[in-house]
Amino acid sequence: MTDRELMELAQRAREYSYCPYSRFRVGAALLAKSGKVYTGCNIENAGYSATNCAERTAFFKAVSEGEKAFEAIAIVGGREGETAPFTAPCGVCRQVMAEFCAPDLKVLLGTPEIFQAYTLGSLLPFAFTSEDL
Ligand code: THU
Repeated sequence: MTDRELMELAQRAREYSYCPYSRFRVGAALLAKSGKVYTGCNIENAGYSATNCAERTAFFKAVSEGEKAFEAIAIVGGREGETAPFTAPCGVCRQVMAEFCAPDLKVLLGTPEIFQAYTLGSLLPFAFTSEDL
């Protein structure tokens, strides 16, 4: 699985986005160390706080199927009908990533055509984790 293929899967996952309120479609593709890819989309709710981001959908799908080790996540977002040049994961999603992944998790951001690799550690420095408890 190349980084570009993972970005393309994230782009495709946007098709299933349920976003009648924001009309902002996000897709994520999470590559587990097992080699399996789990995709996710954002799922909104009339009670806005019940909304689930694409990244968390992908993580919760994977963890609920027994995965605990991850290699990379690709994220693509944008308003309906367009692809934003860059969609960053929200703080809650970064925290969920930190629960299961080391700071070297690869986070791919951008579009399938132009993207960049970041690390979770660079996106969430000084994370609060189980080590702190
Ligand atoms: N959203 C995500 O799914 N992931 C992100 O990284 C940023 C935001 C969703 C939440 C909401 O459904 C919509 O985008 C607008 O905030």
